[in-house]
Amino acid sequence: MIQLQHITKSFGDLQVLKGIDLQIADGQSVAIVGASGAGKTTLLEIMGTLSLPTSGELYFDQMHVNTLSAKQIAQLRNARIGFVFQFHHLLPEFTALENVCLPAWMGKKNKAKTEARAKELLHYLNLSHRSGHKPSQMSGGEQQRVAIARALINQPMVLLADEPSGNLDSQNKQELHQLLFQLQRDMQQTLVIVTHDESLAQLCNRQLTISDGYIAHDDVR
Ligand SMILES: Nc1ncnc2c1ncn2[C@@H]1O[C@H](COP(=O)(O)OP(=O)(O)O)[C@@H](O)[C@H]1O
Ligand SMILES: [Mg+2]
Repeated sequence: MIQLQHITKSFGDLQVLKGIDLQIADGQSVAIVGASGAGKTTLLEIMGTLSLPTSGELYFDQMHVNTLSAKQIAQLRNARIGFVFQFHHLLPEFTALENVCLPAWMGKKNKAKTEARAKELLHYLNLSHRSGHKPSQMSGGEQQRVAIARALINQPMVLLADEPSGNLDSQNKQELHQLLFQLQRDMQQTLVIVTHDESLAQLCNRQLTISDGYIAHDDVR
């Protein structure tokens, strides 16, 4: 479903990725691990079309991303890729429900259907009672769950997460990890998760270790 062929990425003289070949299949849960500065975020951003590789090919669901226009790439990203970051990046002036709806509104989806799906997602994530609250009125764990609902609103082919629990206390961290795998079980959601958390990496059915610009280990369970 996602295919990377000999991807490299340099920032000036610094070559962060030196040649990444990788295929991720539908329904897989993949942890990306490695030392700080190894290039995990860089790799996730390239997979998510947020950043262009210096060289190499990216295919997304048979589409050759390198050949698409900026507008086509933006559409692909909005429709098929969900993102969850370490910091939730919710918009403070909008309610939880509105934050969840935003990616669908940007994709010009039907307003009533979007709201109905957003309510379903908030219910699924045990957040119904928070739908009218603004981010500042919610706990860190709740904010991060709203960010997950937002990432799922357009029914993305893949959910990309960068240290999604990195900013949470241990209780909220455990709940978030359970939730991610509940998504995989209930919705067969394909997941790619950059994490330092060993217990989260263990929950995934594949673990990639990035080292010295390459995939040093690719362990499939
Ligand atoms: N936009 C950028 N400009 C310059 N250097 C960058 C940029 N983004 C990342 N880097 C550098 O690339 C390396 C890998 O960064 P990153 O992918 O964020 O690592 P990780 O997520 O594994 O900690 C680091 O040395 C970082 O400083
Ligand atoms: Mg990082």
